[in-house]
Amino acid sequence: MKVSFIADTPVTSGIAVIAVKNGLKTGGGAADYVAASKGQFKAAAKAANFKGDKGKNFSIFAPAGSKVNRLMAWGIGTGDDFDAEMFGAKVTKSLLMNGESELTLHLGGLGFTPDQAARAAVGARLAAYRFDNYRTKLPVSKKPSLKKLKIAYDKPTKARASYNNYHGPVCDGTILARDLVNEPPNVIYPKAYAARIKKLEKLGLKVQVLGEKRMKTLGMNSLLCVGQGSVRESQMVIMTWNGGKKGDKPACLIGKGVTFDTGGISLKPGANMWDMKGDMGGSAAVVGAMCGLAARKAKANVVGIVGLVENMPDGNAVLPGDIITSMSGQTIEVQNTDAEGRLVLADCLHYASTKIKPKAMINLATLTGAILVALGTEHAGVFSNNDKLAKQIADASETTKEKTWRLPLGPEYDKLLDSPNADMKNIGGRLAGSITAGQFLQRFVGKGIPWAHIDVAGTAMKPSNRHDPRETTFGTGFGARLLNRWIADNFEGK
Ligand code: BES
Ligand code: MN
Ligand code: ZN
Repeated sequence: MKVSFIADTPVTSGIAVIAVKNGLKTGGGAADYVAASKGQFKAAAKAANFKGDKGKNFSIFAPAGSKVNRLMAWGIGTGDDFDAEMFGAKVTKSLLMNGESELTLHLGGLGFTPDQAARAAVGARLAAYRFDNYRTKLPVSKKPSLKKLKIAYDKPTKARASYNNYHGPVCDGTILARDLVNEPPNVIYPKAYAARIKKLEKLGLKVQVLGEKRMKTLGMNSLLCVGQGSVRESQMVIMTWNGGKKGDKPACLIGKGVTFDTGGISLKPGANMWDMKGDMGGSAAVVGAMCGLAARKAKANVVGIVGLVENMPDGNAVLPGDIITSMSGQTIEVQNTDAEGRLVLADCLHYASTKIKPKAMINLATLTGAILVALGTEHAGVFSNNDKLAKQIADASETTKEKTWRLPLGPEYDKLLDSPNADMKNIGGRLAGSITAGQFLQRFVGKGIPWAHIDVAGTAMKPSNRHDPRETTFGTGFGARLLNRWIADNFEGK
């Protein structure tokens, strides 16, 4: 959907949506449609029993005094708790397939900020998202007809700036993350994925790809053992964005990129295994976030690292009982080859700690089924060694509405990882599955580095339970917006 920002006066084509407060209060261009209709609007509102209550709406087709095909009134109640993104999303969802190609949202005269006007466009774009690339027989009636979105607002220049300098590029990142998660595993496998990331160099990102040979030299046996049963070569991709002061220590974003998780020799059951194409959702959020940062020219130094592997059972595959030496030197008894995400992240975290030496680092991973048991699909789980960082994430979460909830870590959980044969085993047993996974990761975080792990197994991919109008497909793109907010609030202009 092409987005533009215009002055808030009546338009002459497509659908015009006007936000209406309680008591039929309208502002800006909306009031002009109402006046031009010479009583038709008020009569129609009365007939529809519409008073401006939040979420209620009605339409007049071929409204009197206007050239638009349809005038739609959308209630926003008092307007005090106006969620612009949700508004844009709900309106778009209700009109997306209706045959019209042009939609104008009139948001002027109601006291909304340029940020809110820009966010209405983001909500609309997210609600219009489809992943139909592989559908050759989709009837036109099932394809979105809306192509052009106009946001009519009192200060279009300011709203446009807010969109172009922040919300638009960040939304591009979210959409990229969605695409990456939705692509099938025969298209997005480690090398193909790395090649896609390489394309982001056009945004000014530096992209470095490490293959198996290089990772072997670095001693990344923990990451490598996961991909060892696959015919696809494992990759680690390092994205660097230097938008901050020269010499400023970077923030680091790390993502689990298991392009398909069969479970390996500890094979998963067949039902729904296809969903495990989304086991690279953490890495997709990191790639999407880096894309957003670069496209909006963020004034911060940020390094993104993703570990890309395919977890397959095979004659070469890692076996339950194998003991491997991670890059950190710590040894791991692999008791379950399906607890592979932490093996990948262990080497990514150690690499980041020693080679990047970041000011702070956050990793995202579709790490445990247990996080779905604890938090369902609404909140991602946050685990952190640092209260300040945890608070920063909670704040970013509050603004972006990518919801998170902090869960504890603690040395009491460590004994669950004891192995009789090595420094640790890679599973903790039945209890506190998400916490023991976090406890495992923490062992690979360099001393003194503020770190957080966000378990996005329930939020990055949603085969069902998509209640939010912004979520239209399996891949949600969760995390790209959260990470951009975190960087913007804590690393830019400081
Ligand atoms: N990728 C899965 C976690 C997952 C489950 C993501 C459901 C999304 C939806 C992860 O690699 C995994 O298999 N975890 C195991 C860990 C266990 C073996 C300790 C799990 O959660 O069952
Ligand atoms: Mn697994
Ligand atoms: Zn996995």
